[in-house]
Amino acid sequence: MPTTRTNATGAIITGWGSALPERIVTNDDLAATLDTTDEWITTRTGIRERRIGGSTTELSVASARRALEIAGRSPEDIDALVLATTTPDRLVPASSAGVQAQLGLSCGAFDINAACSGFVYALVTGHGLIALGAERVLVIGTDTLSRITDWDDRGTAPLFADGSAAVVLESAANGGQLLGWDLDADGSAEHFLYAELGGFIQMDGKEVFRRAVRIMVDSAQKSLSHAGISADDLALVVPHQANIRIIEAACERLGVTMDRTAITIDRTGNTSSASIPLALAEALDQGRVRYGDHILLVGFGAGMTAASAVLRWGGQDHD
Ligand code: COA
Repeated sequence: MPTTRTNATGAIITGWGSALPERIVTNDDLAATLDTTDEWITTRTGIRERRIGGSTTELSVASARRALEIAGRSPEDIDALVLATTTPDRLVPASSAGVQAQLGLSCGAFDINAACSGFVYALVTGHGLIALGAERVLVIGTDTLSRITDWDDRGTAPLFADGSAAVVLESAANGGQLLGWDLDADGSAEHFLYAELGGFIQMDGKEVFRRAVRIMVDSAQKSLSHAGISADDLALVVPHQANIRIIEAACERLGVTMDRTAITIDRTGNTSSASIPLALAEALDQGRVRYGDHILLVGFGAGMTAASAVLRWGGQDHD
């Protein structure tokens, strides 16, 4: 069972940043070319508009620059770059290579593809690198799903969009922020949500919905149990933004009221690896998180992956 080893060096998030493409596509824009309506999309998904455009590399560089600025760190301070993405700009090399070069980093850089669970996978990996001696790790979640979405398919086109968010993770003497974590996958369910190389996203929406609620709740409960806290102790839940009804159903089962949940889906749609860090960055910018608060990050995605992490903001010994 994965637990955070108390003798390992912990980490805290010291900077965060987001980047969204400028172009806004509303539900009415989609309804102009698809057999759908604003009313259907809003009530079935919670999405009102989404941002479309940019490359995974461009968006990653923009969000990472902001995160470095808030952390007060320079490119040379970073010991490793982990980029979570399902939509790299090329097959080879990893998109993190271009991001590393454009940011002027001189450190190892690699991509992680765990679909919409990717950012939490990357965050846990970043904590692992710090436990092994790295001082500072840049963790980015970026996706440009518009490039693998069939804009003539009303079953998927309203859902998927583009965006990026990043955090700077630094080693901390005070035990660090990660109290519990869980990474899951069930590859036997991969056919419910996939895209072939060069193809568009194919999805059994109903089956994904059903599984999503269950695996999010399972993963969250594992992380809460490893952290030794209950859902009542959470100040904020930052869920993957795929469908507001999935979030509501999962939060209800966890016993978390929606006012303790970070929601961006109405404006961003499903940005996959970017979705959780975008919602976290917005909550931080809005001052919704205080030192000592317990936060749950929880996501699910193709694979079918699930991932969650319980953080104590500022570190375990922070007042
Ligand atoms: N506009 C209008 N009608 C639509 C539509 C659209 N964009 N898409 C589907 N419909 C129709 C269907 O054809 C169906 O019509 P019918 O009753 O005449 O057969 C009806 O709406 C209901 O479709 P259904 O698929 O049952 O809707 P739903 O409530 O399950 O919502 C999703 C569909 C895709 C929004 C929902 O299943 C979902 O969000 N699933 C999870 C997807 C997801 O999160 N994927 C990413 C995971 S990381």
